[in-house]
Amino acid sequence: MRGYGLRGQVVSFSMRLRPLISLGCTFLCAFALAQDDGIGDPTFPTLGNKGYKATHYLLKLNYDPETAQLKANVTMEGVVDPSPLSTLSVDFSGFTVSAVKLNGASATFTRSGAKLRVKPASPLAAGSKFALETIYSGKPELIGSAALPPIYKGGWVAYPGGAVAACEPDMSHGWFPCNDHPLNKATFDVEITAPRPYVTVSNGIGKTIGPTTTHFTLDKPALTCMVTVAVGKYGILKQVGPNSLPITNYVPLGTETQYIEPLQVTPKFIQYLSDRIGPYPFASYGTITFPDEASKSNKLLEVMALETTSIPLFSPGSSKDAATLCHELTHQWMGDCVSVTNWGDDIWWVEGFAQYSEFMLAEMNGGKAAYDAAIKAAYASVSAQSHWLKPGHLPAADMFSLRSYIGGALTFHALRKKLGDEKFFQVVRQFVDKHRYGNASVKDWIEIATQVAGEDMKPFFDTWLYGDAVPKLPS
Ligand code: TRP
Ligand code: ZN
Repeated sequence: MRGYGLRGQVVSFSMRLRPLISLGCTFLCAFALAQDDGIGDPTFPTLGNKGYKATHYLLKLNYDPETAQLKANVTMEGVVDPSPLSTLSVDFSGFTVSAVKLNGASATFTRSGAKLRVKPASPLAAGSKFALETIYSGKPELIGSAALPPIYKGGWVAYPGGAVAACEPDMSHGWFPCNDHPLNKATFDVEITAPRPYVTVSNGIGKTIGPTTTHFTLDKPALTCMVTVAVGKYGILKQVGPNSLPITNYVPLGTETQYIEPLQVTPKFIQYLSDRIGPYPFASYGTITFPDEASKSNKLLEVMALETTSIPLFSPGSSKDAATLCHELTHQWMGDCVSVTNWGDDIWWVEGFAQYSEFMLAEMNGGKAAYDAAIKAAYASVSAQSHWLKPGHLPAADMFSLRSYIGGALTFHALRKKLGDEKFFQVVRQFVDKHRYGNASVKDWIEIATQVAGEDMKPFFDTWLYGDAVPKLPS
């Protein structure tokens, strides 16, 4: 699976992607549609629920790597919207649920497929707030995704000596009950207890609240699939970013010295991006590089990186690669702060812009010549094919493929060439600013680009996103 064409050049998405793109996958959804199933994403028809909005999650977790048992108490706070609900259904699979409480009172529930359905004593009124507490325990089971070849499974990944949660796009409900779709972003508090000497980490700002318990707060809305927890033996490397941004890096205990130098690019690239696309959107940043034991025990973790909000995940060594490090950093703006509306139609600008930022890194380090060489290599890798990548509407199996990464990145290159540097970054900055902490879609790109360019940009996006012919590379 290694050895995909571009490795070793500036275009290096292989750390994250080679395993995902080299195998196609098709997947038929196993669950029949129930009335309350599905938030309305055609790529994942049963995922989520459009009858309520979760606003905040409190995850209280107790995990012992020695026994691989997770004990959890998860409270979802939400609002019923738009109609009264006689059943509250959330995405959840696995574990043994010992109790469900709705607004403090014990509630009856059923489980089928990947749904937990809770029956309130009387229907929940439209507009009413609720708190749903689910108490469960057991050995976490891996779950698959239509977006990944079947050999890859994620969710809560336990390995000898720890665990790490990697869930994009739809695997979070394999370890906590949630409305598992980007249209329902929420804030998070995560409290984790693990025996000594294990270190525990999650998204946002952490503090120690007990002898073996930490509490992490993410005060900006995040995607369920970008919430992570890592339990393991980690050493900590701190940095300070622009505007005193606290940066905390977790690396395998004992390997700290190997990471000091490679991580130096982070504050520099935060500054570089901030100057171009707007300020870093969260209160903290950092990275988690999980240990070899993790990547040896799970195929998905073998060679991967994932943009978990404010604290991306890296397989061992992948965070020593500047391009990979900066790719996940860029996702904090594009993907995490501004998120997809539906997966299949929007993933191109998420992965495409993160991939494009690797060309910006080349430019930061080596100027225009380095940037041009990177673009040329990327274009050469796909232009020989008779069909264009058409990144604008992707089936689940192609979401994390060359089509989104390279097709999307070249679309941004072409946009920059068409508009010039100043207007190009103005478009990106306005897009992020207008949709920050929310969701956006292609029409938002077209609208802002059209306004900044002073001409209808729909034909441009039609060619690059949906056209059959390989577009000419503008120079
Ligand atoms: N978004 C990841 C990246 O930055 C790729 C990815 C998608 C992934 N799903 C994943 C990585 C699940 C790990 C686990 O390119
Ligand atoms: Zn990415």
